[in-house]
Amino acid sequence: MQENENPLLKLEHICVTFPVKRDYPFQKKRFVHAVTDVSFEIGAGETFGLVGESGCGKSTLANTTLGIQKVDSGKIFFEGKELTAMDKKQLKEARRSMQMIFQDPFSSLNPRFSVFDIVSEPLRIMGGYTREEMREKVGQMLHEVGLSAGDMDRFPSDFSGGQKQRIGIARALILKPKYLVCDEPVSALDVSVHAQILNLLLDLQEKYHITYLFISHNLAVVKRICNRILVMYFGKTMEYGDVDKIFANPMHPYTRALMSAIFDTDIDTKHERIRLKGEVPSPINVPKGCRFCGRCPEEDEACRMGEPPLVEVEEDHYVACFHCGKKADADG
Ligand SMILES: Nc1ncnc2c1ncn2[C@@H]1O[C@H](COP(=O)(O)OP(=O)(O)OP(=O)(O)O)[C@@H](O)[C@H]1O
Ligand code: SF4
Ligand SMILES: [Mg+2]
Repeated sequence: MQENENPLLKLEHICVTFPVKRDYPFQKKRFVHAVTDVSFEIGAGETFGLVGESGCGKSTLANTTLGIQKVDSGKIFFEGKELTAMDKKQLKEARRSMQMIFQDPFSSLNPRFSVFDIVSEPLRIMGGYTREEMREKVGQMLHEVGLSAGDMDRFPSDFSGGQKQRIGIARALILKPKYLVCDEPVSALDVSVHAQILNLLLDLQEKYHITYLFISHNLAVVKRICNRILVMYFGKTMEYGDVDKIFANPMHPYTRALMSAIFDTDIDTKHERIRLKGEVPSPINVPKGCRFCGRCPEEDEACRMGEPPLVEVEEDHYVACFHCGKKADADG
């Protein structure tokens, strides 16, 4: 899976589980399988989209790339250096280049802290800046995100939802990171400000050459702003690669179901809405065979025999389905 000669970020076979509390003494140890054997790369300056239903492991996976979620197994490389092998000091240094903006600006900004306290926090954690230097940097950053330097002595309650997210973006960018995780950055905001915040993120990306890992349930937005995407289901990669190729020719039944559910004129989908049967299985008891069994409109006996491997169906387009050739054959 080598799309970039020098990817900014590279994940190899990442697995993450969480232990589940015992219901009674001596109960066998159980684990939530949040992420299973996920590999991908992000090139510098790319916007990489992570999509999939709630609980499929998107945030857990994103957190591993920031070193804030430990992996059970697998390796992560940032600028060629192994993040998963770093000690605390090395990780702190690497994290200077990596930041995150949160889904909910209402709860992620401490109401008792001033905007200056909030936006300057990463500078204080890294250390080495005088108060005057920090005030100057915060003022500049507020200006970059469409606020003013005079806002730094105000408090979060003085701002609207969109403005709060701008404060969150200022905090994330104050150290001029190379890599930014945007975990559902507009989903908690009023629809009227979605476009403004997305455009701000795109402008800042261009200005500072930032690489984005962009998590969203909104496939219309993903199609618009991402270069490459990974479709996750139940902790695993279902389809991965170039966004235009996947949207033009979604090969995995799960991707097709997600795309068919978009009611947006921005998406030119020829497919009828596919209604998935059944529920997402328990992440504690992972069923045998393909994880999409039980919900897949195209499953047959073979699908329960083993997990389909991720195979390259065309350049930079990978699919994990035993029958992914079926649609192509039918279309051709
Ligand atoms: N700290 C934790 N302890 C136990 N289980 C967890 C923990 N964090 C996540 N999980 C579980 O891991 C799985 C993946 O969760 P995750 O939050 O990564 O999903 P997600 O795709 O980001 O969902 P959403 O779209 O709702 O944000 C879920 O089953 C979740 O309940
Ligand atoms: S392997 Fe079978 S169950 Fe899994 S997605 Fe493909 S057709 Fe559906
Ligand atoms: Mg999440």
